[in-house]
Amino acid sequence: MASKKYDLVIKGGRVIDPALGFGKDADLFIKDGKIVKIEKETATTRKDLKSLDENQVVDASGKIVVPGLVDIHVHLREPGREGAETVETGCQAAAAGGFTSICCMPNTSPCIDNQETVKFVQDRATNALARVFVVGAITKELAGKELAEIGDLVKAGAVAVSDDGYYLQNPDIMRRALQYTRMFDIPLMQHAEDRFLCDGGVMNESFQSSRLGLEGSPAVGEEIAVLRDIALCRITGARLHIQHVSARGAVEAIRKAKAEGINVTAEVTPHHMTLTDVEIGKTFDTNLRVNPPIRTESDREAVIEGLVDGTIDCIASDHAPHPEEVKDCEFDKAAPGMIGLETSLGLVKTFLIDKGFLSWADAVRKMSYNPARILNLEGGTLTEGSIADITIIDPDKKWTVRREKFRSRSRNSPFVGWRLSGQVYRTVLGGRVVFEQ
Ligand code: DOR
Repeated sequence: MASKKYDLVIKGGRVIDPALGFGKDADLFIKDGKIVKIEKETATTRKDLKSLDENQVVDASGKIVVPGLVDIHVHLREPGREGAETVETGCQAAAAGGFTSICCMPNTSPCIDNQETVKFVQDRATNALARVFVVGAITKELAGKELAEIGDLVKAGAVAVSDDGYYLQNPDIMRRALQYTRMFDIPLMQHAEDRFLCDGGVMNESFQSSRLGLEGSPAVGEEIAVLRDIALCRITGARLHIQHVSARGAVEAIRKAKAEGINVTAEVTPHHMTLTDVEIGKTFDTNLRVNPPIRTESDREAVIEGLVDGTIDCIASDHAPHPEEVKDCEFDKAAPGMIGLETSLGLVKTFLIDKGFLSWADAVRKMSYNPARILNLEGGTLTEGSIADITIIDPDKKWTVRREKFRSRSRNSPFVGWRLSGQVYRTVLGGRVVFEQ
């Protein structure tokens, strides 16, 4: 039997792809995992559609069709903490959240500071519901003392390096790390919190931390860390990426550096854009404990301003799964982190698009195109010939975040019970539907 001309057609949706410069009604034709044609309905496309089986056509009328979302900051916990998440469950959560590509952080056990562990994670991801890109460690055991074999990590397929969870405090080692990453043309992703100022803090240092009697971690600790790294980036010419920016001073430092032409990019999490430290005193919900901490209203406004004016390039979830036993305790004893893959899109729609800060095209740029470019990943666009990683969104669908619905193995989200707008309808990975609402 002759093979079909197309494997899948997504029909009748509004296609939004900032790389193509359009938001228009069009059908997407997919063959062998690639997008082969984007066309507004014509007599020929109608004929093409007729030759397909029902299950090869996705009716996307009333929906928006965007390049598969890309989350460059995810913790998959494998190897070592499979009770919290595995590559498989993390990718299920990704698919349910509309993400087709995710980058996983190296703070596993053992940590990803060698080729074997990179390969182990890649292996686990072979048949997963999302593409997994590995971020290797900057320093051995994330200890900040000795550089990891960055060349080996890159050879094994690491797309960047980071000691996420820890700031690389030693400026000499940081300078050398930047020189290496420049040689391999990969970004260095930095968790920017000066350890002398921030270690021991369990929430933002502010009026709220004094009121609650909890140890504070000051915003200036983030600002100083960012300023130092920008100075090192200036002299090395490396690509520096600042992870989870949360403080006004850090946003301002990155804005100035970009104006100077320094090669720095930045991400913000949905939680730093939607929550402030005032929430902690209301519930003591340990899911509000994260590093860096959720901060003041002024900081929250600053990260949104940064996102809007292009200072912050992308949105990344810092999906950090933790089991109940390390969260069901006093606030200051809880492990830092919250899951984010399955709530990211709804929070962006509800708090950024609906409030007029971003258009859908801007949001797609921040959640797909830009993160893919920062890490040199395939995807982030629907141009003909590109991989068929596609997210179909029901743009105004209201839904409530439910604990029992999470695909992630962990449930540590402070957003449970929140009513959001904008829901994933289908996720398509390499031309295959991997998630259906
Ligand atoms: O809150 C956080 N949790 N911040 C990090 O940087 C690490 C993460 C984790 O691994 O749990």
